[in-house]
Amino acid sequence: MNIEQLWPDHPIRVMMDEHQIILQNLAALEQSLTKLNEKPDPDLLNTLDSIASNLLAAEKHHQREEEALFPELEEMGLDGPCSMMCDEHITLRELKHQLKALVVQLISGAAVQDQMGRLIPDLVGRLREHIEREDTILYPESLEVLDDAAWERITAQCEQIGRCSFSR
Ligand SMILES: [Fe+2]
Ligand SMILES: [Fe+2]
Repeated sequence: MNIEQLWPDHPIRVMMDEHQIILQNLAALEQSLTKLNEKPDPDLLNTLDSIASNLLAAEKHHQREEEALFPELEEMGLDGPCSMMCDEHITLRELKHQLKALVVQLISGAAVQDQMGRLIPDLVGRLREHIEREDTILYPESLEVLDDAAWERITAQCEQIGRCSFSR
């Protein structure tokens, strides 16, 4: 099975669609950074706040990967890549919480522009690389090694965990 043949609710299709939404948020985040001056206007603060919330709302995406997909891949001997992705989830989660905290401080009038200037490129770079590795290596490999029975189990567990608030 290859990615083009996936039906709309296939777990990998859902996760790849979510990646696209996350990437759009990262592009908007980068753009916001270029507009971030000494006295950010309320629109920019709102945008930053909703981007930070959207990025945190991807938690169910990572949970589906960690609890539904990765255990099946580990059974097939792919535990190395899975544990690498899990480690990256931990780092990314921490950076996303830092972003949210900085946005809250910015809204309350604190001068945290320099800290945001350091954090945002780091978060954007790491998250883009993570998504790239999953889209181009881990997900295609999953489609190659897992059989229909495994996908049925993954689908059932993904449905139990649920979608991200930004997906639908
Ligand atoms: Fe991931
Ligand atoms: Fe992912």
